[in-house]
Amino acid sequence: MSEVPTRATNRAGASPTDPSSPSIDARWKEEGTIPPPARFTAQANVRNPTIFERFSEERFPACFEEYARLLDWSTPWKTVLDTSHPPFWRWFEGGTLNASHNCVDRHLAERGDQPAMIFVPEDEAEAVQYIAYRELHQRVNEFAALLRDFAGLRRGDRVTFHLPMTPELPISMLAAARIGAVHCEVFGGFSGAACGTRIADSGSRVLVTMDGYSRNGRTIDHFANVEAAVRSAESMGQRVDKVLVWSRHPGRSLTTHPLKDGRDHRIEDLIGRYAGKRVDPEPMASTDPLFLMYTSGTTGKPKGCQHSTGGYLAYVTGTAKYVLDLKPEDIYWCTADIGWITGHSYVVYGPLAIGGTTVLYEGVPSYPDPSRSWRISERLGVNIFHTSPTLIRQLRKTAPEEPHRHGQKFRLMATVGEPIEPEVWRWFYDEVGKGEAAVVDTWWQTETGGFLCSTVPGIHPMKPGSAGPAVPGIFPVILDEDGRPIERGSGHAGIICIRNPWPGIMQTIWGDPHRFLEQYYSRFCRDEKSTDWRDWPYVTGDGAIQGADGYFRILGRLDDVIKVAGHRLGAKELESACLKVPEVAEAAAVPLADELKGRVPDIYISLKPGAPPAAEVAARVRSSIVELIGKVAAPQHVYVVDDMPKTRSGKIMRRVLAALSNGVDAGDTTTLVNPEIVASIRKVVAQAPRASPGLSAEALHKEVRDTE
Ligand code: WTA
Repeated sequence: MSEVPTRATNRAGASPTDPSSPSIDARWKEEGTIPPPARFTAQANVRNPTIFERFSEERFPACFEEYARLLDWSTPWKTVLDTSHPPFWRWFEGGTLNASHNCVDRHLAERGDQPAMIFVPEDEAEAVQYIAYRELHQRVNEFAALLRDFAGLRRGDRVTFHLPMTPELPISMLAAARIGAVHCEVFGGFSGAACGTRIADSGSRVLVTMDGYSRNGRTIDHFANVEAAVRSAESMGQRVDKVLVWSRHPGRSLTTHPLKDGRDHRIEDLIGRYAGKRVDPEPMASTDPLFLMYTSGTTGKPKGCQHSTGGYLAYVTGTAKYVLDLKPEDIYWCTADIGWITGHSYVVYGPLAIGGTTVLYEGVPSYPDPSRSWRISERLGVNIFHTSPTLIRQLRKTAPEEPHRHGQKFRLMATVGEPIEPEVWRWFYDEVGKGEAAVVDTWWQTETGGFLCSTVPGIHPMKPGSAGPAVPGIFPVILDEDGRPIERGSGHAGIICIRNPWPGIMQTIWGDPHRFLEQYYSRFCRDEKSTDWRDWPYVTGDGAIQGADGYFRILGRLDDVIKVAGHRLGAKELESACLKVPEVAEAAAVPLADELKGRVPDIYISLKPGAPPAAEVAARVRSSIVELIGKVAAPQHVYVVDDMPKTRSGKIMRRVLAALSNGVDAGDTTTLVNPEIVASIRKVVAQAPRASPGLSAEALHKEVRDTE
């Protein structure tokens, strides 16, 4: 990101003040490359560059059969890619398979006693749980029987989970997949109300949750969210018949809230009825949905990204094998919460389809101290470590010497979710990996199912701050505003798009195919009648720049999405939470640069006449955001202003507010109807304490744009 301290001009020579350069990060110095450690390449799953011939554009789409063949199919596919209804691509058409079988049953013969999961409770006094594939098989079958016979779920039904990071979450996912039910996990840190919106959108009549869990040394009464979730779903017309509640500690309840008779059921009281029960995995069409994952976009309503069974599973398995270098004998730890796409693809489905051992950690990786991650890694023998730049920044800041004092030994380390600054990357490589681990910076999205850009670690040199070239079978292009390709090495940034479909791409937005088309394809589609995939580039919504060496550097979102510690929040969702407070007349959410989290939201509100004191309303706005979205969305500041900077058509200029938040020049304000308001807002902002150095003017210009 451009606010990092490296301020040298890059080789392409774009000057920071050159207004003709749309590139915000052109002055981010080109980094040199580092070859992957020889010990790594000698054993890598992929070391032969011919992979890129096998996955060349000429061999597309048949190249992806290589990934599909990593799975067990009940019926083989007939057509690799059906493009008859773009952009609703259908992968491995005609094939049938079951994800639960692929992640569990098929490993029993060879590795029934190997741990599939290792669960690490946050409390260090509590025993680590090793769950072998055989035990996983039994627990998945029993819960599948309960979902089918007690909850009445059938193939195609949606079921919402609001579960924290415990083994019951993957068990629930695999049980749903076993009977063909579509699971919709809502991140455990989201509020009950946010969960309810997703229950309603997905049309789930069953909610699976847990009584409580540990986080940051505290016991969270998670069941407390249920009432709000059910109420909010019902207010949107969706009745919840059954709430199934896992017990974090069977026999000892972690909630003080009473269970509601007839609706709420403790799973520990029911599961005994299904002891030893076997449920045949339902053969699903490759194109049947496996799950929905809700994510934020440019409008207030979260989008249910619908992922397929065959294409998705093939893609995450293939990329886990080739990019994460995962092998069945590895102890692999990805710190992402399963409530986000990274957890679905690279904590659960990819690693288990490969037959690996995946570590699940309940709590905060820096609790009770910044060495916790290194202790866990050393003790369990983790050899692949996958995490976020936010955690790396935090550990680098709080305890830079600690990794060297511990015996963690990684073969590969992966980062995901945000750009990583070169100096943070270097600390990760030198100190955490001790110079012995290959590092991959993986760029992708909820929508894409799996990785889009990354180095293939046994082949490509690493370049700090750059995600790398495209992964096999992905063909990106950077387009300018008018859809013209930008040459690699030009020093200019644009919108990164993917020219071709791939098996992991979402199938549609649940219940809203039109929005799917509009959001991701309309902008650069050459011919909406065409059934040739070449006419349908996928628009990622990210800005990027490509070096002469073909490596992509991702600059961040170009839409109204704010990435907070890697969590994706929509400006519109934040604003509508503000407007729920009756005294608020108008609201705007903008990104503020944060040293550790990348970005945090700053909120501006104006009040209706006769409103109570500003501080009181601001406090209510803050609680409304936490209540409707969750603590992850808590704003840094809530500024109460007299009016918003507006265009003649009445649109709020977020760009001006973001400039004031970040302490940079607000630019041209002459197009505002009320330019005089800027000085008064600046005064309000100046009174608040500010820890962050702020975004640079160029980064701001890129990230926060207003169309008039
Ligand atoms: C950003 C997370 C830079 C990007 C898997 C993308 C990244 C958004 C990287 C998707 C990376 C993800 N470098 N930026 N390696 N990975 N992003 O849907 O802006 O939570 O569009 O998926 O995160 O976020 P999402």
